[in-house]
Amino acid sequence: MRLKGKLAVITAAGSGMGKAAALLFAREGATVCVVDYSEKNAQATVAQIKSAGGQAHAVIADLMSETECRRIIHDSAKHMGGIDILWAHAGEPGPGGFEGLDMNAYQHAMDLNVRSAVVSVGEVLPYMRQRQGGSVLFTASISGLVGSQFSPIYSLAKFGIVGLAKSLALSMGPEGIRVNVVCPGLVDTPMLPGFLSRGGDAALAEQNKAKFVASIPLGRVAQPEEVAKAALWLVSDDASYVTGVALPIDGGFTSR
Ligand SMILES: NC(=O)c1ccc[n+]([C@@H]2O[C@H](COP(=O)([O-])OP(=O)(O)OC[C@H]3O[C@@H](n4cnc5c(N)ncnc54)[C@H](O)[C@@H]3O)[C@@H](O)[C@H]2O)c1
Repeated sequence: MRLKGKLAVITAAGSGMGKAAALLFAREGATVCVVDYSEKNAQATVAQIKSAGGQAHAVIADLMSETECRRIIHDSAKHMGGIDILWAHAGEPGPGGFEGLDMNAYQHAMDLNVRSAVVSVGEVLPYMRQRQGGSVLFTASISGLVGSQFSPIYSLAKFGIVGLAKSLALSMGPEGIRVNVVCPGLVDTPMLPGFLSRGGDAALAEQNKAKFVASIPLGRVAQPEEVAKAALWLVSDDASYVTGVALPIDGGFTSR
């Protein structure tokens, strides 16, 4: 078991990659706090973990609220008796395009993708210090590694996350806290059609998906479990000398 006895918090763990990771981390011996604003999804993830013999707690919060981003950390620490691992995974595609930008949509994207991570990670560091170390993981995207004509604001936010992770890796390394980022390409989750169509219909999403897939060397989108396995490696002691890394999990998309 690669996370035996570890105490992990994962945000946006009611669905997609976060859920896949919550199930996997629990199978690998971690106790997991499943953070999500959908109580139904969070409880379903917890129930699945428990029925497989694992340990988990649901922490319901809207991460658009700064106060809630702080509370999830303190509530998780109370549930579990400490925190070793935080995967700050919550995010959203944000507005497409740039000219005529809706500043409310801009702010929403920055608050969920960037501020929620900044606030919750700031809050978790003292808990990790208490345990003489820890592992923080962020979620960026291929749009945090290369520019995106399709999603300039998303790209702005995700480049920011990579910069934050690299900076924290420098400052937290001496305290035994590693900080890394996963940068997924297209992943088959409920978020994907909305990202691809940006308010358009399912047919547009399929059309854009086909175009995108044609430029992926492995020729397909990822399954959430494939990202969860990379996340497991990064947060576990198997990656004990890895910090400040932004790992593409993109079927080779950013290799060109
Ligand atoms: N799916 C992709 O193709 C893809 C690719 C690269 C990066 N990402 C990133 O992955 C992360 C999540 O994506 P996913 O595909 O696993 O998503 P998903 O749609 O499967 O799940 C998102 C979860 O977040 C929860 N959520 C949404 N807003 C919230 C809020 N304000 N407060 C609390 N919970 C909230 C939802 O209830 C849902 O359970 C985001 O950071 C996204 O930018 C996704």
